[in-house]
Amino acid sequence: MSKAISVVVIGRSLSQQERTHLRSSSQTPLAIVAELPNAPQVLDELNRLRPQAALVLLNGDLHHSFQLVERIHQELPATAVICSSEDNSPDVILQSFRSGAVEFLRQPLAESEIATVFAKIEHSVARPEESHLARVIAVYASKGGCGTTFVTANLAASLARLTRKRACVVDLNLQAGDQPLYLGLEPNYSIHDIVRNFDRLDEQLMANYLTQRSKLLSLLAAPTEIGKDEDIRVEHVTRAIALLRAQVDFVVIDPPRMLNEITIAALDAADDLILLLTLDIPAIRSAKRTLDIFNRLGYDKKRIKVVINRFSKTPEFDLKQVEKVLETSVFATIANDYQAAIASINVGEPLVLSKTQSRVINDFNLIAGKLTGFREETELPEAPRPAKSGWTSIFGGKR
Ligand SMILES: Nc1ncnc2c1ncn2[C@@H]1O[C@H](COP(=O)(O)OP(=O)(O)O)[C@@H](O)[C@H]1O
Ligand SMILES: [Mg+2]
Repeated sequence: MSKAISVVVIGRSLSQQERTHLRSSSQTPLAIVAELPNAPQVLDELNRLRPQAALVLLNGDLHHSFQLVERIHQELPATAVICSSEDNSPDVILQSFRSGAVEFLRQPLAESEIATVFAKIEHSVARPEESHLARVIAVYASKGGCGTTFVTANLAASLARLTRKRACVVDLNLQAGDQPLYLGLEPNYSIHDIVRNFDRLDEQLMANYLTQRSKLLSLLAAPTEIGKDEDIRVEHVTRAIALLRAQVDFVVIDPPRMLNEITIAALDAADDLILLLTLDIPAIRSAKRTLDIFNRLGYDKKRIKVVINRFSKTPEFDLKQVEKVLETSVFATIANDYQAAIASINVGEPLVLSKTQSRVINDFNLIAGKLTGFREETELPEAPRPAKSGWTSIFGGKR
């Protein structure tokens, strides 16, 4: 599990710049596990998430904000509260400390101050050996067709099978999510339901919106109806990820290619960023550009894992050359097996769960093992499901 300090931000959503600042300025990696408004249910949510730090952005009704700080201080003594405001008058700072804050940060958030504050609290916060929060993994490729959707589905299935823990795929291809096809599911709910019920969203409601494939593998689907994607905003996505963190063990995200606000919020939330590419010039160039962007976004190199999909030894490219071009090492490769891949998609069963013989399965298990430290012991295939043709779901089977 990641050793980052878990932080919940309260008051308002962070701007992209603030989020980047927070993630990159501290020596200690920070995981922003949720951004919550100062609403009545905030304490329930904190009780579930039990973050190591809470950053309270003081705005609006100051009295109300300080009351919240006091309650966090009393009810969650293991959570270090940091107050932050544009108003850094002695009065506000004093009130912050009186309410139970251990630190105060001026706004706009300055990198050096964030670093100092988190270095100080790092020693005081409780650091459980193994966090109960899920590990969030995003599989990203800036070029289409690299296999993001295939890899997300199979990696989630492989993680669940290997560790016997719960994995949830989050399909953020809001206009045309393919995950139901790849996972053989017919979702009744989607991220759009989160938007509709955002005010009363909690862990239980969130659980209803997941489509289970098995006890260990589920999907938060993209909207199934055209046009529904338009209402989905960053806060819905970050909230969904935050709630899932408390509910499952692995959240595996299939983000859209376009680096919009939502994509970046998902990448920000990820403990591991799998940068996927295939061995061809356009994909390598596009991966190189993506690494530059990740660098500019302040993403820690340790989070980024380069994975080559559809890998076969070719005379044109060897891995060493690719590593030289990308200036980073390759974390893993996934073999090229078109027959097996396409057959698994057509029946809607992740390849790693099928009885097919393919090197691809082995490669996914290696990646799942490398990410988690788990080793495969005995084969424990999932209970067989009736094979369902992907074609039926496209061309209108029963719904
Ligand atoms: N390791 C692989 N070997 C062979 N074919 C693959 C592999 N991974 C993905 N594919 C194929 O590539 C195609 C595109 O995959 P997909 O996951 O939809 O890409 P993306 O989501 O990046 O656009 C699919 O037809 C899939 O079967
Ligand atoms: Mg895709």
